[in-house]
Amino acid sequence: MKISFANKESAGNELIVPVFENEFQEAEKLTGGIARKLASKKEFEGKKDQIQVVHTQNGKIVLVGLGDSQKLSLEIIRQAYGKAASVMRDNSTKKFSVILPECLNSFDEAKAAVEGMLLSLYKFSSFKTVEKDEKIVEEIFLLSDDSEAKRAVKEAIIICDAVLFTRDLQNHPSSIATPQMLGKKALESAKKFGFKCKVYGKNELEKMGMNAILAVNKGSAIPPALIVMEYNGGKETICLVGKGITFDSGGISLKPSAAMDEMKFDMSGGAAVIGIMQAAARLKLPLRIVGIVPSTENMPGGKAYKPGDIIKTYLGKTIEVLDTDAEGRIILSDGLAFAQKFKPSAIIDYATLTGACVVALGNITAGLMGNDDQLIKKIIEAGNATNEKAWQLPMFDDYKEDIKSQVADIKNLGAKGSAGAISAAMFLKEFVGNCKWAHLDIAGTAWTTKDRPYKPFGGTGFGVRLTIELLKNWNKQ
Ligand code: BES
Ligand code: ZN
Ligand code: ZN
Repeated sequence: MKISFANKESAGNELIVPVFENEFQEAEKLTGGIARKLASKKEFEGKKDQIQVVHTQNGKIVLVGLGDSQKLSLEIIRQAYGKAASVMRDNSTKKFSVILPECLNSFDEAKAAVEGMLLSLYKFSSFKTVEKDEKIVEEIFLLSDDSEAKRAVKEAIIICDAVLFTRDLQNHPSSIATPQMLGKKALESAKKFGFKCKVYGKNELEKMGMNAILAVNKGSAIPPALIVMEYNGGKETICLVGKGITFDSGGISLKPSAAMDEMKFDMSGGAAVIGIMQAAARLKLPLRIVGIVPSTENMPGGKAYKPGDIIKTYLGKTIEVLDTDAEGRIILSDGLAFAQKFKPSAIIDYATLTGACVVALGNITAGLMGNDDQLIKKIIEAGNATNEKAWQLPMFDDYKEDIKSQVADIKNLGAKGSAGAISAAMFLKEFVGNCKWAHLDIAGTAWTTKDRPYKPFGGTGFGVRLTIELLKNWNKQ
């Protein structure tokens, strides 16, 4: 899909018109007074979430409410433009124009409008062969000649490309989205956008002593991979580590079958890290960014790792396996220890790590834990700006008790039914040394089982927008 700029005179017959509550001047001109009539009948008053299609002689105008102009937020803009673009698409409109009112010509607002539209129009339909999706938007014309808006659109396109790339990886079934396929996509992306990428296979992982990744892989017929990406845009190094479990059956501690299909999304953290690398390189961020994705299935094959096993990790610490379904923290232990080699000033990890996090925060907010208050604060702010929200959970030393093992350095299971998201993070903390580190538990936010505003059913690409916002502002106070 293409986004172009046009002037108001060449708007065409298909038009999205934003309206603030009870401010109808512009809409009225465009609709020949229809907008005011609708308002007087209280059918459309420009309230937040209101949308109204007005059919004209040659096309249609989609009026979309932005609510009280004093209460406008970037999220209202994303949702409103997203909804309006979906209405156009659902009406089989292939090309339409969009008005950005004066106040939306500033950078952040124009960016939010484009994000809302691009993210809403995404649909994963590559496997549909019968009811093929013919409702595809080909081109959107933005009616603006503002240079800030033009700059914003370029950035929004790069970020949304990365979000949609991440969603595509997430949505593919695990029989296709294997560790090797993730590696291939990362390599392709690296080549295309100018960053380095190396994919380590099973033999190399054995030589390196990545025994935690190898242990989780044992029950799978598909080999593991460790994807390491590096974008060199500056001196300061940030490491991003993503959980890349391409399917989590639970292993020998097998999951119940209900909703097990959703465990194809257990590589969402890894997919987000590849997406972030791509956007960071395209935006030429002034940082050195290293992306690390340990990837494997978690399967119960005859050679599978078992409860009671003890793993000697890449770092040297030993893990007692008490539940093979707590595999994310195991593979991340090697990923996080490896990250330290790059001497980063911060490590951030992304993982669909615990059901407990979903219980605590639902599908709206990611769990956020770490060992550095400044870093946590920056992530919360970036989350608020992008509406990829994160909320801090505590990591008091007292919780360490929960992961003490009788026979190894730590165990991979916390206290039953108690602070599961936190004990998982306490486990990860053992592998980051003295490095500043934050952990995002994205178990509830990485995918959605119902359509949400600009997040259609399936993978959401959570973490990409948040992280790009964070990295863009990295050196700002
Ligand atoms: N991938 C799951 C976490 C998960 C569960 C994500 C549901 C999204 C929705 C993870 O590997 C897992 O199975 N965690 C266990 C840990 C437990 C055995 C300590 C869990 O949360 O039940
Ligand atoms: Zn699991
Ligand atoms: Zn998992």
